[in-house]
Amino acid sequence: MRRTVALAFSGGLDTSVCVKWLQEKYDAEVITVTLDLGQRDDLDEIERRSKLIGARSHYTIDAKEEFVRDYVFPSVAANALYEGKYPLSTALGRPLIGKKLVEVAEKEGATAVAHGCTGKGNDQVRMDVTVRAMNPSLEVIAPVREWNMTRDQEIAYAQREGIPVRASKSIYSVDQNLWGRSIESGPLEDPYTEPPPDVYEWTVAPEEAPDVPGYVELGFEEGVPTKVDGRPTRPLELVRHVNELAGSHGVGRIDHVEDRLVGIKSREVYECPAALAIIDAHRDLEKLVLTRHELDFKAQVERQWAWLVYSGLWLEPLRTALDRFIAATQSRVSGTVKVKMYKGSASVVGRSSDNSIYDVSLSTYNQGSTFDQKSAVGFIELWGLQSRVAAGMTGSGERQQDGHKRTEAKEAE
Ligand code: ARG
Repeated sequence: MRRTVALAFSGGLDTSVCVKWLQEKYDAEVITVTLDLGQRDDLDEIERRSKLIGARSHYTIDAKEEFVRDYVFPSVAANALYEGKYPLSTALGRPLIGKKLVEVAEKEGATAVAHGCTGKGNDQVRMDVTVRAMNPSLEVIAPVREWNMTRDQEIAYAQREGIPVRASKSIYSVDQNLWGRSIESGPLEDPYTEPPPDVYEWTVAPEEAPDVPGYVELGFEEGVPTKVDGRPTRPLELVRHVNELAGSHGVGRIDHVEDRLVGIKSREVYECPAALAIIDAHRDLEKLVLTRHELDFKAQVERQWAWLVYSGLWLEPLRTALDRFIAATQSRVSGTVKVKMYKGSASVVGRSSDNSIYDVSLSTYNQGSTFDQKSAVGFIELWGLQSRVAAGMTGSGERQQDGHKRTEAKEAE
């Protein structure tokens, strides 16, 4: 009996060739699965393509709401930026694709799932780990990792097999969903080459952005973005709106050298207008309402969270445990943040919250301050206690005496 394989299908060259290759090499019936994560592809065209190439059946799954609610917004609460830069757009999508793939495989009685990831990247790890954690009895087949064909060889294979090859519209390798666009390869492989203008599709060049700044007020409830300019806005619509608005001001371009999980350094370009604006706003609101101790500790949690998600361990229990900590901090993260967008930058220029622990009567330099400056003296006495004692010992003490001498000498001049 022929085996059944559920293939994650984007409709591109790789996954199109995968369909035929799985049929030939594995004698498989192929079921293609395409998730709508807001990647702005023509999903009907992808379905037609799947049928044309000879898949047994095709699933188009609208996972946008689930993606935003269960993956993207938790990453906002975690202020998640891998290596301080990358909002994890591709990384967040993979475990959801893996999950849906497993669901289809189980429903269809498939014995394996397949994906078009290469053996050089992070995506293979994210897919394989998720699938195997969800259902260890499913085999994972990654044809691209096995067949070792160049792009030209793939095109030749496709032509031989009667797979329609679309004149590739791009020399880049692109992955996109509603949280961002990842762009690799072509001229970007030289890390010294400035990204050519044609890599960008969601953002205008900062130098061509409007001369008048744009403003947006983002409202958060318990760490979740819920309002735009005072208007309650559903998650998808909110992300879409901020993507467009911020992108129109040239906000969201990221260009960096990234450390892949498999050890390769890679030059990565991203467009993530909403992600950058929303995470920045969220982090700023946290600074208004959380204590310094919470902020300090949370920064460590955020780093760990981003690392787990980047490295394919979405289902790792530690991620769930970190989410519980994050949730405990978010109960006070409600309020409004005013963001100003101007020629490529998004800056927070205002923030307010009912839970604010900013107290102007303490911080003001004007009359009416309630802060008793005399109490600072005793505080400093104790705060510096150990430093003083240590400085009195040999070693650091000598250095300090030198310092004194120099000061005295200067005064004598
Ligand atoms: N480097 C990014 C990541 O690991 C983006 C990967 C993009 N994937 C792709 N198939 N082009 O998440």
